[in-house]
Amino acid sequence: MKIVVIGATGTIGTAVVGLLGKMHEVVQVSRKGPVRVDLADPASIDALFTTVRDINAVVCCAASVALAPLDSDTDVAAGLQGKLLGQVHLVRQALNHLRDGGSITLTSGVFDRPMRGASFGALTNAGLEAFVRAAAIEMPRGLRVNVVSPGWVAETLDILGRDAADGTPAADVALAYAEAVEGSAQGRTLSPKRT
Ligand SMILES: NC(=O)c1ccc[n+]([C@@H]2O[C@H](COP(=O)([O-])OP(=O)(O)OC[C@H]3O[C@@H](n4cnc5c(N)ncnc54)[C@H](OP(=O)(O)O)[C@@H]3O)[C@@H](O)[C@H]2O)c1
Repeated sequence: MKIVVIGATGTIGTAVVGLLGKMHEVVQVSRKGPVRVDLADPASIDALFTTVRDINAVVCCAASVALAPLDSDTDVAAGLQGKLLGQVHLVRQALNHLRDGGSITLTSGVFDRPMRGASFGALTNAGLEAFVRAAAIEMPRGLRVNVVSPGWVAETLDILGRDAADGTPAADVALAYAEAVEGSAQGRTLSPKRT
């Protein structure tokens, strides 16, 4: 398969590229590098599909919603632009450009317990999962859409100076993306587990 991975240089994306790259042709995409997209810029998503053609699958593990307390003056709409609305726009563009039977895999996320500042991220993640579940029945040409919902990734906890044992190694998270791309899941939220 020819697979576009957006967020290819990130903690999760690097593991996804490493795994999928063993069996497939992977096009690595982020805001920097030879092939670029900014999820917060819909025009750049449109341009991606004119630059890269004959795609079987798109995997998106990019962009995040910054932690912001509910009573802060954060711009909620701007915060949702990349991860939520960007991934929704990505799906709508991919519908017109993926090869028959292709797939789109998005990324949401889950907080293991309520955390101050996490409400906009929770809104985004729940929105993405509901969107994927509902959008699945409108997929044309045998296309599939799914979302991977990681908890804390071990390598990220390590960077934050926290106990990596509380997280899922990125290599295990990558298995959920491979399942979404190579399997038959449709409209599902996949939850990676430590193997
Ligand atoms: N790591 C965790 O513990 C964890 C847990 C739950 C959910 N998640 C979710 O998983 C996803 C990936 O997380 P991560 O930890 O791998 O992130 P990361 O290490 O910060 O990497 C993010 C990747 O996405 C690219 N990127 C960032 N903003 C972008 C944008 N607006 N448009 C296009 N590319 C963009 C980055 O490259 P450039 O900067 O070059 O664009 C990089 O390749 C995020 O949605 C995150 O919320 C992560």
